Amino acid sequence: METITIVLNGKEISGRSGMTVLELAREAGVKIPTLCHSPHVAPFGACRVCLVEDEARHVLVASCVTPIAPGMTIRTDSPFVLETRRTVVELLLSSHPEACVLCDKGNACALRALAAELGIGGIDMDRIRRYSEIETANAFIERDLTKCIMCGLCVRACQEIQVIGAIDFAGRGFNARPATPFDMPLDKAACEYCGTCVTLCPVGALSEKTRQYRGTGLEQTPTVCSFCGSGCSIMLQTRGNRVMSVEPNEENSVNGASLCVRGHYGHDYIHNPERLTVPLIKENGSFKEASWDTALDLIAQRLMDIREQSGPDSIAVFGSFRCTNEENYLIQKFARAAVGTNNVSSSARMSTSPNIVGLTKAFGYPGATGTIADIEKSGVILCLGANPHESHPLIAQKIKRAARFHGAKLLLADPRQSRMTPFAHLWLRPAPGTDIALVNAMLRVIMDENLYDKDFVRERVDGLDKLLECARRYPPAYASKVTGVPVEQIVEAARVFAGADAACIIYGSGITQYPNATNSVLAIANLALATGNLGRPGAGVYPLVKENNGQGACDMGVLPDYLPGYRKVSDPEARADLEKLWGVAPPAGEGLTGVEIISQAAAGGIRAIMNVGANPVAVFADSTTMKKALESLDFFVALDIFPTPTTDLAHVVLPVACFAEKDGTFTSAERRIQRVRKAVDPPGQSRPEWQALSDLCRRMGLPADYKSPADIMAEIARAAPIYAGVSYARLERQTLHWPCESADHAGSPVLYEHGFPHRDRAQFMKVEYLVPDEETDMNFPFSLITRSHLYHFGSGARTMHSKQLKEMFPECFLEIGAEDAEGLAVADGQRVKIVSRAGSMELPARITPGLPRSVVFVPVSMSAAEVNSLFSTQLDVVTRTPNRKMCAVQIERM
Ligand code: SF4
Ligand code: SF4
Ligand code: SF4
Ligand code: FES
Repeated sequence: METITIVLNGKEISGRSGMTVLELAREAGVKIPTLCHSPHVAPFGACRVCLVEDEARHVLVASCVTPIAPGMTIRTDSPFVLETRRTVVELLLSSHPEACVLCDKGNACALRALAAELGIGGIDMDRIRRYSEIETANAFIERDLTKCIMCGLCVRACQEIQVIGAIDFAGRGFNARPATPFDMPLDKAACEYCGTCVTLCPVGALSEKTRQYRGTGLEQTPTVCSFCGSGCSIMLQTRGNRVMSVEPNEENSVNGASLCVRGHYGHDYIHNPERLTVPLIKENGSFKEASWDTALDLIAQRLMDIREQSGPDSIAVFGSFRCTNEENYLIQKFARAAVGTNNVSSSARMSTSPNIVGLTKAFGYPGATGTIADIEKSGVILCLGANPHESHPLIAQKIKRAARFHGAKLLLADPRQSRMTPFAHLWLRPAPGTDIALVNAMLRVIMDENLYDKDFVRERVDGLDKLLECARRYPPAYASKVTGVPVEQIVEAARVFAGADAACIIYGSGITQYPNATNSVLAIANLALATGNLGRPGAGVYPLVKENNGQGACDMGVLPDYLPGYRKVSDPEARADLEKLWGVAPPAGEGLTGVEIISQAAAGGIRAIMNVGANPVAVFADSTTMKKALESLDFFVALDIFPTPTTDLAHVVLPVACFAEKDGTFTSAERRIQRVRKAVDPPGQSRPEWQALSDLCRRMGLPADYKSPADIMAEIARAAPIYAGVSYARLERQTLHWPCESADHAGSPVLYEHGFPHRDRAQFMKVEYLVPDEETDMNFPFSLITRSHLYHFGSGARTMHSKQLKEMFPECFLEIGAEDAEGLAVADGQRVKIVSRAGSMELPARITPGLPRSVVFVPVSMSAAEVNSLFSTQLDVVTRTPNRKMCAVQIERM
């Protein structure tokens, strides 16, 4: 890149060609005010307050849109500049209401701050009012366009960052304004309340509707969003001991200036009065308040008694994605070293185990192979079994940006129409559960047409014979019959995918929560390997790990078969290393999975469960059996932030801290380890889980003298080789992607750049499509599919305690296509009974366009326990994780 030198305020300064004057000035520490500029969107040049003087040419230029050029002699503070800037600001104020004292933006208003800086008090100009009605009809955002200065940041935020396009400019001249189509209110437009426009609006025209403190001077604590696995950095804005609002943390973050509606407005659950605040012990069927010491003594004594009577494997421990890495590490250490069992699992395992087994077998590491940011570098994106728009809005944003602004082709495999569909180059609609047939048929076309990456395969992959054999069995005509996808679409998808310089595959729980989940992951890995799409930015495989710390919980070894850092429990060297560290060797035999723990609890083989933060009644399939199993336990302990259907069944409940009330780390779906920081105190007597677990370890004779989560991370670095170079000192300055194997290792944003960990070779695997057990028939003629929902998350325990999210979507619903609804004589909004082979539930029906015939849809997070009770316990053939994505149902009119 060419270096260009200019004179800036009398000094020679060099920059790179293409930089603007504003960028160079900021890099040199010279301040130029701006109103319409943001580094997150394209320059616009609307407000003109960034004017500077080019003395060489005797002209004023807008520094935000003017590239540096040889010979420039720029003055940012000449009398000419300052006088013109004053006039520009006065003109803006002339059509702005004189209501600063009453405005919610307060001292955060950039216009007001600039006016003060330029010494502008009153203005000596005729005022031209621009009246607009204040819009407050939705749950999240207030719009008062009377205050709008036409900077265009909201429009660019919506179109360029979020790629939603709910607003654009309307009108001309003085009547121009940012508006929805036909000036509809936001709740009638395509707005999704991400709040990015509010974040960027420099004045009080857009504001958060329920901001709890309308002044300035809030404390800021950088931390990480507590919902999906995208790992957005957020800034908790607090006053006293209360989180007043949440904003994106733009520094060193994956999300820049953006958040989704959950991250921006859903964290009010933190202060919900229904939080658990005191330890509870059940006596004669009802809970009585207790002290922490009494509760912890009771737990330790009961667990030691049961271990004494029935052995350590009569006890099981559940961890949670809601807990930090440090807490999950202690959860598995408590199970393995204090209790002496490998019966340790979490709900994160239910969707990530197929990734752990599949990706490790094929490539070597159980995680996404690239970064979220690099998705924008992909030429082709194949998205399978996922609706990232609802589950991982940040990742959806990157896919949409790649398609809209960088020419990427999106191959979208989803039976259901969604907000991703308009971005698709090809919308494939495979029947639920048939993804392996689709991928294998794509491989058949790629191999038949010699489109595979021969050099990559020869140099870096073993098992070509296995690939050829499984491709041979999937001619597109056969796959078309299985999947319902036309042959020509399968062929085109294969050619487009194989023809890309860099293609990636993004898949979600529609792949990993099916009975043939691990084989589906292996099929995806085969496709990436055959086309050489690994080891460089834009290429790769991205499992959408659902939850904020689902990846971290598994990294820490909250798994029955893996120790921290994915070392097998059967590996004697790994166990010996932990024995040196813990003073106790972990047991050698694999423990029980979550589903097996529950069936053993029902059968009497498991007598006690310690449940740290999970909500198994809501998230496991067949919640009725789950409830019975938990009720039959001799001893059940639950640590949580809210009362849930699971805590109701416990003998002891411990109230714990939420993410905003403790220190720690989360690891996101891109293997990025980030600091979680305490912003407020936990309510009442609640405590962080790491403290409760340390206390319990000590009571059961295992030393656990951690003074802070930093001490625990120091131990994790010794226990898990992929975290060996991670420390709080480093995480204060940066985020790190594992594997990070030493203190001077920079981390690994992109995996396999220089080869694969096992003998430098990856593996093709033979995988077959299996007809799902849950087929439709005369009695159960509809395929019910479940996925995430943008406004709710997980089991809904937190988002249903968020006032605004609940106001927006208070109740679960069934989506049904118009023809199916007509066939059943079901009207929009009418309640229906959904009956499966395992259970039933009642919901209002929503007649929805874009669903294939005989496919109905229910979002899972609003009534998770009831929805999951429709599923029988069908397990992935390899990892024994349950199917929760598709079952056959009947719909009955009520
Ligand atoms: S809240 Fe988000 S979707 Fe709605 S207008 Fe603003 S940027 Fe667009
Ligand atoms: S509403 Fe705010 S962000 Fe949008 S154009 Fe007006 S001042 Fe700018
Ligand atoms: S995309 Fe995910 S991590 Fe980001 S704000 Fe939304 S819920 Fe939070
Ligand atoms: S900041 Fe440059 S024109 Fe607005």
